Amino acid sequence: MEKLRISGTNPLFGEIAVCGAKNAAVAIIPAALLVNGVCRIENIPDIKDVRLIIDMLVQLGASVTYVNDTTIEVNSSRLKTHVAPTELASKMRASYYLLGALLGRMNKAEVALPGGCNFGTRPIDLHEKGFRALGATVEIEDGIVYTNAQELCGCTIYLDTVSVGATINIMLAAVLAKGRTVIENAAKEPHIVDVANFLNAMGAKVRGAGTDVIRITGVPEMRGGCYSIIPDQIEAGTFMLLAAAAGGEVLVRNIIPKHMDSLTSKLEEMGVNVTEYDDSIRIERSGSLKGISVRTMPYPGFPTDLQPQMVALLSTVKGNSTVTEDVWENRFQYVDELRAMGADIEISGKKALIKGGTLHGSEVRATDLRAGAALIIAGAATEGVTQISSPHYIDRGYSDIERRLRSIGVKIERIFEAD
Ligand code: UD1
Repeated sequence: MEKLRISGTNPLFGEIAVCGAKNAAVAIIPAALLVNGVCRIENIPDIKDVRLIIDMLVQLGASVTYVNDTTIEVNSSRLKTHVAPTELASKMRASYYLLGALLGRMNKAEVALPGGCNFGTRPIDLHEKGFRALGATVEIEDGIVYTNAQELCGCTIYLDTVSVGATINIMLAAVLAKGRTVIENAAKEPHIVDVANFLNAMGAKVRGAGTDVIRITGVPEMRGGCYSIIPDQIEAGTFMLLAAAAGGEVLVRNIIPKHMDSLTSKLEEMGVNVTEYDDSIRIERSGSLKGISVRTMPYPGFPTDLQPQMVALLSTVKGNSTVTEDVWENRFQYVDELRAMGADIEISGKKALIKGGTLHGSEVRATDLRAGAALIIAGAATEGVTQISSPHYIDRGYSDIERRLRSIGVKIERIFEAD
């Protein structure tokens, strides 16, 4: 059995660079299916979810060539099918982007319902609503989503809930549709803007990404180009929280400081010294920190994908804190693992009440991607040895994690135990 073993606690020093954004990459790579030509995509992270989505593109008939470790060229001019490989699609959440991309390019798609981390119900009704408004039929049978259109026509769609996935999927389906599409109450996450910028670089006309209203004027064809993915906001935040928890002085490089505003202000409120540069942030923590209240919200609010890592940090900070999860209905399952390390966390509905204190190393399990990152943070800030099983969840979103963390002083190694 594979595990990550961490020995805490020592302050961290040095520099760590952030990779390209996972959630942008897993949308931009399928978006290349819309392009009748070659897309060169730079700064892709070397993580499992990206490899999975690339495999799916290849099975759909796209040719994908690695130029180097972080750059691929995708040529979708000869797609051979609109049917995504079921086994692969059901392994990850972002496979739902194949629906929008294939529908947009081929007027039809068959894709298994998505998998991914389990935070309670994860509906796709808003994606369906968008496709129907564009003129497609959508049916779900035996876990497969079938969508079909004679022709896609621009329309106005109001999203009842702010949804990252639905906003991107409707953009993908609309860029080649006839006429104008307006998405109201759109999500504003950095990767929404990144996908829009990618589409525009390939020849689309998408305006307003990053605001509540996105306007898309359909174009007859997209012909290809070159695009570089933004740095990962969540990976950057994970490293910032890790440095705050373990103490010391760490420069997190290749970052867009504006994307980190909600986290930066919370860290400063706790007493962490945060210095912003053009494309890096220095985290310094020497003394003790104080408890705070945090509420997750769509961007520019505090990201739900940093909630478990923030709870891990707050568990090590003396005093009371509250963390309210307002995006997902059930994103506190990992708390039992922190409790095994001695954390005092009470869950009351959407709220976690944390009485911070001293944790101890323990045997724990990564229950999902960000929960796994939270356990690394707790382990690095805690006396003794913490062993995290199921590290494959962490590998879905963090590339070469133990080597990169060792470079700033985290005592972490991957071990293999006989089952
Ligand atoms: C994306 C991210 C995920 C992150 C989430 C919120 C990817 C691959 N995943 O997930 O890491 O946690 O954004 O920032 O980018 N909802 C509906 N109907 C829908 C779609 C969503 O009611 O059709 C609800 C969800 O239940 C949830 C909320 O909207 O409560 C936000 O979900 P959404 O933004 O769509 O998340 P994902 O795109 O799945």
